[in-house]
Amino acid sequence: MRIEEKEWDSNVLGIRCGEVYCHSYDKAIDFNGWDFLHARPWVSEVDCIATLEEAGFVKVSDYLLLQRDLRAHPPVISEFPYREAAKNDAEYVGDLAAQIFSYDRLHSDGRIPRKVADAYKRAWGENLCRGYAGSVFVATDLHYGIVGFSSVRGSFIGLNGVHPEFRRRGIGFGLVELACQRLADLGCDYALISTQRSNVPALNMYFKKCHFKIQGMAADFHWLRLGLEW
Ligand SMILES: CC(C)(COP(=O)(O)OP(=O)(O)OC[C@H]1O[C@@H](n2cnc3c(N)ncnc32)[C@H](O)[C@@H]1OP(=O)(O)O)[C@@H](O)C(=O)NCCC(=O)NCCS
Repeated sequence: MRIEEKEWDSNVLGIRCGEVYCHSYDKAIDFNGWDFLHARPWVSEVDCIATLEEAGFVKVSDYLLLQRDLRAHPPVISEFPYREAAKNDAEYVGDLAAQIFSYDRLHSDGRIPRKVADAYKRAWGENLCRGYAGSVFVATDLHYGIVGFSSVRGSFIGLNGVHPEFRRRGIGFGLVELACQRLADLGCDYALISTQRSNVPALNMYFKKCHFKIQGMAADFHWLRLGLEW
């Protein structure tokens, strides 16, 4: 199987990280030199899943790819308390990202310390504002500052979330709608978003409020070198 280095992950985590790409005709995996490998086969890729399991990979989460038809379901936009993020929001978005995630593949892997998974999300949040995402939207509170964010990259809505104390007020929905509107403005007919099957709050929001439908199902597999120290 082909393995490509995930350079950004390697830098952030300080270990050598790779992404495994499945081929039904090639079952050999060369673990030499790797610390942490990730694979995300579609559930239909049964041979690949069997090979990964035989090789010692552990399934850590179920990944859902969702799609929304933006012409059939145009975004509903609220003006306040949202704005587009600036580069100097990076630290605040990173701070928030470090506190709010728990269903993603790193947090779902019991072998990875929570502080490592939080630090990874912090770096990701910061990176969004420093140019990784084409657009980042934030929701602000007069006293607290940034309490939520969403992001757009390509035709994908990327990382998004809301501070626990500000949830269930429609902020998450508003942020996703803004991201959808940006995609529509860029000429996209469809918006893509992904989440884990276990993320019930996000799934409810995407299905019930934001008109997303399941487009594909995959599984996240991890392999960690024995004795790896974080
Ligand atoms: C998912 C998340 C962004 C929702 O933010 P929010 O501001 O609370 O969402 P909203 O108030 O706009 O809620 C919109 C809808 O989502 C659903 N929802 C939100 N929280 C929910 C919960 N805890 N349980 C069930 N459904 C929930 C509901 O359908 C809700 O509509 P309703 O309030 O009219 O019933 C928030 O829970 C969060 O930040 N989670 C952690 C980060 C994360 O997992 N992000 C998604 C990554 S894919």
